[in-house]
Amino acid sequence: MIMESSLTFMFAALLMVFSLFTSPTSGVTQETLASICSQTQNQEICEGILESDPGATSADLLGLSLISINLTMKQGRSNYDTFTKFMDNSTDTALKESFRNCVSLYNSIMEKLKVAYQLSEKKEYKSITQPGESQTLAYNCANGLPVDSPTDGISRDMIITCETSASVNQYIVGVSLK
Ligand SMILES: *[C@@H]1O[C@H](CO)[C@@H](O)[C@H](O)[C@H]1NC(C)=O
Ligand SMILES: *[C@@H]1O[C@H](CO)[C@@H](O)[C@H](O)[C@H]1NC(C)=O
Repeated sequence: MIMESSLTFMFAALLMVFSLFTSPTSGVTQETLASICSQTQNQEICEGILESDPGATSADLLGLSLISINLTMKQGRSNYDTFTKFMDNSTDTALKESFRNCVSLYNSIMEKLKVAYQLSEKKEYKSITQPGESQTLAYNCANGLPVDSPTDGISRDMIITCETSASVNQYIVGVSLK
């Protein structure tokens, strides 16, 4: 009886040691995602954005940084293309100019996000300020357009995606300071 339980104990201890060495870097928990997204203007949308990437559930926090920047670049590229179309087909001169301004702002956004991705690869999280700066530029674009512009939806998508990415990176800085 004693023999059996001590064997069980040894087996359990061995399993624990084994799992310590073999477990992959654990994925980001739901609690962490909630904590990150509670810092944004819409927690549910933020979680939805991060979970939209197939790699997000298995990614660790550092992987989530790269994923969040990638998602922001993807939204930025799509918005850039849409604003270019609207610029090209606008007949109103002032409106055309506003769309041209957006195209130029999104050009800067894409440059900034490329830098952010490289900094994330180098794990220089404290220097990752570009998603927040991109959010401001996306606001500037939207604010230059008439109210009820057909592009309002994609502007909102970009603003919250930038904010999500900024929050992921701020969370990483916060955790590493503890
Ligand atoms: C980010 O996007 C690039 C280019 O599409 C891809 O090669 C890379 O694997 C992506 N990174 C992550 C972490 O998903
Ligand atoms: C311009 O192109 C966009 C995107 O293809 C389209 O939604 C919009 O209706 C077009 N506007 C005009 C004035 O042709």
